[in-house]
Amino acid sequence: MNDTPFPNTPRVDAYEKVRGAAIFAADDARPGMLHAALAVAKIGKGRIVSLDTRAAGAVPDVRLILTHEDLADLKSPGYIFAGGYAVQSFQPMLSPAILYRGQPIALVAADTLEAAIEAANRIDATYAAEPFNVTFDVPPDDIIAQADSPLPKPAFADLVAGDADKAFAEAPVKVDAVFTTPPQHHNPMELLATVAEWREGTLIIHEGTQNAASIRHGLAHELGLDPDRVQVISPYAGGGFGQKNSLQMQTLLAAVAARRLGKPVKLVVPRAQIFHDASFRPRSRHRIRLGADRTGRLVAAIHESDSQTSRHDLFPTQHAATSGRLYGIPNFRGRERLLRTDVQTPGFMRGPWEHVASFAFESAVDEIAYTLDQDPVELRLANDTSTDTFTQLPLSSRHVAECLRRGAERFGWSRRSMAPGSMRANDGSLIGWGVAIGAYPASVVAEIVRLTVLADGDVVINVGAHEMGQGIRSAIAAIVARKLGVPADRVRAEIGDTRGVPQHPTAGSWGTASVVPAASAAADAMLKALNDLSPSGAAGQTPAQILKAAGRSTLEVESRHKGPGQPDDIYDQLKAGQLAIDGPIYPGFVTFSYIAHFVEVRVEPGTRRIRVPRVVSVVDCGRVVSPRTAESQVRGGVVWGIGGAMREASEVDPRYGGFINNDLAEYVVPVNADIGAIEVEFIDKPDPRLNSTGVKGVGEVVITGVAAAIANAIYHATGRRLRDLPIRIEHLL
Ligand code: MOS
Repeated sequence: MNDTPFPNTPRVDAYEKVRGAAIFAADDARPGMLHAALAVAKIGKGRIVSLDTRAAGAVPDVRLILTHEDLADLKSPGYIFAGGYAVQSFQPMLSPAILYRGQPIALVAADTLEAAIEAANRIDATYAAEPFNVTFDVPPDDIIAQADSPLPKPAFADLVAGDADKAFAEAPVKVDAVFTTPPQHHNPMELLATVAEWREGTLIIHEGTQNAASIRHGLAHELGLDPDRVQVISPYAGGGFGQKNSLQMQTLLAAVAARRLGKPVKLVVPRAQIFHDASFRPRSRHRIRLGADRTGRLVAAIHESDSQTSRHDLFPTQHAATSGRLYGIPNFRGRERLLRTDVQTPGFMRGPWEHVASFAFESAVDEIAYTLDQDPVELRLANDTSTDTFTQLPLSSRHVAECLRRGAERFGWSRRSMAPGSMRANDGSLIGWGVAIGAYPASVVAEIVRLTVLADGDVVINVGAHEMGQGIRSAIAAIVARKLGVPADRVRAEIGDTRGVPQHPTAGSWGTASVVPAASAAADAMLKALNDLSPSGAAGQTPAQILKAAGRSTLEVESRHKGPGQPDDIYDQLKAGQLAIDGPIYPGFVTFSYIAHFVEVRVEPGTRRIRVPRVVSVVDCGRVVSPRTAESQVRGGVVWGIGGAMREASEVDPRYGGFINNDLAEYVVPVNADIGAIEVEFIDKPDPRLNSTGVKGVGEVVITGVAAAIANAIYHATGRRLRDLPIRIEHLL
């Protein structure tokens, strides 16, 4: 292994992006293209009795109106946890059923966007309404014990180690508290957008996605096509955050409209509709019981959670998989339940389970530190571990203690006085300093890679990956450049495109740990091929020089890479568009990424306004391949955490159903003024058991623990223990 840190090279696609040369799906404009808009259901639940499309059809330039009567021969995409392709099994507009407010009931395509929107607004529906519930007050029949549900096991079984109930009952020091978190919507800057076009029986989809394969195979399934008849092209997504990690409901509608019209159709889902037409982070409630001995050793923990799901799907949770692994706690019991509500199916959003689990658990850890009158950093250090709680396997790398020590040093933690309300700024604001840690599974997926060097010096790598702004192109370029001895900006990554090697969802923070070792192996194969091509050996020559000397214009290799212990037929699964994920439990070891956050809050005494002027985050994500983009991801993840803790909430009105947010004025995300200094440090120690480069993942571990660190800092500032997110001014009045 080349054990030197990677250089801090610029983002490889920066130049394309600032010039506006990076084309996103909604930027796509092609001759003869029509624009589509959706009409949506205005009841909370029920069925369509009749649809009147006459007024819509009378709008000039309208070319097509699609309703459920036109789509009855199509199939639903299937549920991702049952071998399907979408985070919601239900595809709207295949029947008159209305499962939730805001569900599409008709598509209008017109020559202009204005005409499409105007006509969609004139679709008139009559409904037979049915009772619904969008709150957490559900009857007992709507509470599902996940462990007894049809969801796949052991992935969604309850996690248990030792005898937590007995150990908790006997523990001399205890915390028992309930925490709640609201529904939240991802709201990436780029809206859901599809351009669909048919060419000689082949469907071509341009869409910003984290999962080109699910669009290809899912549409093939829905439309009854051979997957070879579907191409998905997604060079960039303008933010994913989990929203775009499987087939969306608008894609099929755009594809059908394009087929009917024989012309390309663009469908952009407006922000207001995304609150219903995309997944979301479900509402959750957590009861944490934590027991310690008098020295501060954590001896027992019980994490019971309830999470919102839809009526038609069970969106599972894995809260204990995070909270149970933050520390070495010998007795742990998790129990996860799902509550059925009449909304679209929730999905993965920015550390879907880890964010909420760590908010609850790390708040409770702070609480027990105060109960014991122990420094919260010291208590955490004293409960560190090198063994996995549930499997008893060794952790292949865990540098939590170093994250805490370096973070404390950089933050100046030793200057903190323990008592709540004991630190004040010159302007009278209360100062609070809080700490929390996070853990996130280090998963990997199988990859097939095609690597080509050209005599002009360019290198092209075709691999399964999606660029949603996180910097995966830069990570791919960094490893290929290092291995082949070429400049990173000569490496072009062909990704998010089903016309090349098989694609796989880029999610779960497994992107870099999957593509980097795969690209590294492909580069090794290329070096061997170059050596074979050069009579005197490849040493000292660039690939381009070797090609020129050999009179070749290109040289191509293909290679495969899989996670530790993955079976050989994993590549067939990958080619079939199925998930090919491994980890965090591997043969003989377990791997997570870790983080420690140190947060300063200031609470203005008159208004109680809460500010977060300063965050120090120290990350253990294995080897950092692309320092520039990794650091940017950490800043972004901290911003997610500030939004998740203090701003973002999707609101419901039990009278009307659905969500009532409409735009970014009502769904409040952090703005520049909300963000102070975010200092980032990496441990940058490779994990050689996980892969040859020693990469773990970075994206989602970052949000994990931010909310708790903020809540803990607010407690330190004010003496108020706030257990409900988002934390707002009114909670401190
Ligand atoms: Mo991400 S929430 O794992 O797509």
